[in-house]
Amino acid sequence: MVKICCIGAGYVGGPTMAVIALKCPKIEVTVVDISVPRITAWNSDQLPIYEPGLDEVVKQCRGKNLFFSTDVEKHVSEADIIFVSVNTPTKTQGLGAGKAADLTYWESAARMIANVSKSDKIVVEKSTVPVKTAEAIEKILTHNSKEIKYQILSNPEFLAEGTAIQDLFNPDRVLIGGRETPDGQKAIQALKDVYAHWVPEDRIITTNLWSAELSKLAANAFLAQRISSVNAMSALCEATGADVTQVCHAVGKDSRIGSRFLNASVGFGGSCFQKDILNLIYICECNGLTEVANYWKQVIKVNDYQKNRFVNRIVSSMFNTVSGKKIAVLGFAFKKDTGDTRETPAIDVCNGLLGDKARLSIYDPQVTEDQIRRDLSMNKFDWDHPIHLQPASPSAVKRVNVVWDAYQATKDAHGVCILTEWDEYKTLDYQRIYDNMQKPAFIFDGRNILDGAKLREIGFIVYSIGKPLDPWLKDTISMA
Ligand code: NAD
Ligand code: UDX
Repeated sequence: MVKICCIGAGYVGGPTMAVIALKCPKIEVTVVDISVPRITAWNSDQLPIYEPGLDEVVKQCRGKNLFFSTDVEKHVSEADIIFVSVNTPTKTQGLGAGKAADLTYWESAARMIANVSKSDKIVVEKSTVPVKTAEAIEKILTHNSKEIKYQILSNPEFLAEGTAIQDLFNPDRVLIGGRETPDGQKAIQALKDVYAHWVPEDRIITTNLWSAELSKLAANAFLAQRISSVNAMSALCEATGADVTQVCHAVGKDSRIGSRFLNASVGFGGSCFQKDILNLIYICECNGLTEVANYWKQVIKVNDYQKNRFVNRIVSSMFNTVSGKKIAVLGFAFKKDTGDTRETPAIDVCNGLLGDKARLSIYDPQVTEDQIRRDLSMNKFDWDHPIHLQPASPSAVKRVNVVWDAYQATKDAHGVCILTEWDEYKTLDYQRIYDNMQKPAFIFDGRNILDGAKLREIGFIVYSIGKPLDPWLKDTISMA
């Protein structure tokens, strides 16, 4: 029986290994982590992450061929294939601070593998890493190899949160990069055999190591660039009376462009896009490619611009101040169907509103009060100028109220902002919400999920990203 061990039981390691275990009943899969609470949660009925369909997959395999453990060394030493899926955040200190990937966790995992291994291993990079990381990892592993042979593969993960199980069941592609030597090709084949249990062969792409590592950064940069392009266009739509949804529909019908991933929004968030583009920028700079670095920087700059623009729009519409006003915030996660708040645009928007002395009442179906308070009080790192920005002050955070119901959040509010596209926000009783709000009642739809015309009929003043502006909002542009 082939034994797989995955180091890192996070958003990627957990779901990915659960699906491998489900699809390959003859493979024993163990996911290990240094975090005791995380492993305890994976072994309980309350999994540490919310992901549609994940509970069922875990329930079917846990205790059969899927295990979660904190005994990292034992399972690493027994495994044939070791996936490394630890976090690789942006460095906040030292060389490359603000851009480079922090490989501390990766390096410590690699050193541990080198220390405990007693048999040959295939080590798979599942984390997103800078190009050429495999070379560094190889050096760590073989430095004190005790005659043990290691093959390093790059097998980046393309799942998106909220649709992880669907993405893993039916991936657009699986990418495996390896050495072009006979041993390297053998290792690629061994990993291919695992995925071939459920992924059609023509969707399994094999490349050299550096292409696989770079493809992951490139894919995320291309995806994020689409959103920044659309969001940049949304500002122009508002200025001209065009409608970004109509523009994107027309543009996306071009089969060379395609219609997916063209939704204007308050900005992209998540743990990957900004981090991976910064990583790409750093690699470009290290290679003397300043113009290329500047090109990708602009994708993040437009994203920051979009978040600021949203806050400015709220403040300027509400008579140029939100001081003391109650603003209901619907949604805090970085997208629907996840409780993840890493780099969520909600943090910047809420801090912007708190900076203008608003009172916030926040409701998200999957994010806890503790998490929201932690996020708003967290030092934020300025990627463009490596300094820590001031988080919301303790007195500002006192103006935040977290509730478990949209009607409670919006009661007596002056304005409502939608920051996550949760389906349940589409079917709320907006007449009831309007009746219980202060007047004039404003709605700022940062995800374009609501029907603006219907809301206007009720009496709301509505702002939707990139849509023709209400006369009220047009007038306030000159006031702002
Ligand atoms: P995560 O923070 O949710 O999980 C990482 C886990 O690794 C944590 O539980 C941590 O305790 C554990 N860990 C760290 N060092 C360890 C060590 N030495 N030994 C054992 N465990 C250790 O991160 P994530 O979101 O799962 O991302 C993991 C990697 O996958 C990152 O490189 C990320 O860029 C990449 N990725 C993420 C996504 C996503 O949607 N989240 C998608 C594709 C790729
Ligand atoms: C992303 C990549 O999609 C995935 O392939 C990679 O493996 C990890 O990074 P994720 O961050 O989980 O996945 O979610 P994604 O669906 O890409 O959304 C990222 C952000 O972009 C979210 O804040 C989302 O709301 C926003 N977004 C997405 C838009 O604003 N408009 C869109 O059209 C699509």
